[in-house]
Amino acid sequence: MQIHILTLFPEFFRGPLETSILARARDRGYVEFQMLDIRDFTENKHRQADDTPYGGGAGMVMKPGPVVRALEYARESSPEAPRILLTPQGEQFEQETAESLADERDLILVCGRYEGIDERVREDWIDRELSIGDYVLPGGEIAALCVTEAVVRLLPGVLGNQDSLDEESFAQGRLEYPHYTRPQTFRGHEVPDVLLSGDHQRVDEWRREQAEKRTARRRPDLLEDDREGDKGGEDET
Ligand code: ADE
Repeated sequence: MQIHILTLFPEFFRGPLETSILARARDRGYVEFQMLDIRDFTENKHRQADDTPYGGGAGMVMKPGPVVRALEYARESSPEAPRILLTPQGEQFEQETAESLADERDLILVCGRYEGIDERVREDWIDRELSIGDYVLPGGEIAALCVTEAVVRLLPGVLGNQDSLDEESFAQGRLEYPHYTRPQTFRGHEVPDVLLSGDHQRVDEWRREQAEKRTARRRPDLLEDDREGDKGGEDET
């Protein structure tokens, strides 16, 4: 997978892309990152990529030309890649979104800054808009990193152990069960007996139960989503 990242701040990505899973995935050839500095696609000597808004008002707007030329450049090597804008106005990015993006051949991520991007870019050159939550960041860079990490770890082969993907939070609409490691007693706190029993069936049952309880307590909306899914099925018949 090739991930093109269009940004005014390529340096923002240096640490994260060089660290842990992302660096390993790239070194092993599962993913390539192409950082595109939007300013490199400006056509004025000050490399100005933003301008004042028509109609007046506060803040600056990203000019359409540099962004569209950067998008066209990315599309030359990835003609089918969805062009995704990170913005608080987008649809909510969820685990399911990450799973569907992991099936794409390549991705193009566009990080907005300032007050936003000229609307004409969104209308004709963007395929999808994603938000990582209902809060406003100064730009889409952190959001692009969230999407990148969530997607890359799902690419086949990137995580050694495929089982861990099936068991983790959200994989089955549940939060994950609690984990423990050595020592058996830590400052007076014990590991639950069942995990020391060696009885795999009991361990599995305990984990399922814990996941269910934890989901009910912390994220009852996930269990309601399930029930609504069932209801939907009945309505159709
Ligand atoms: N850019 C600024 N805030 C954002 C958010 N919450 N999600 C995605 N992109 C953003």
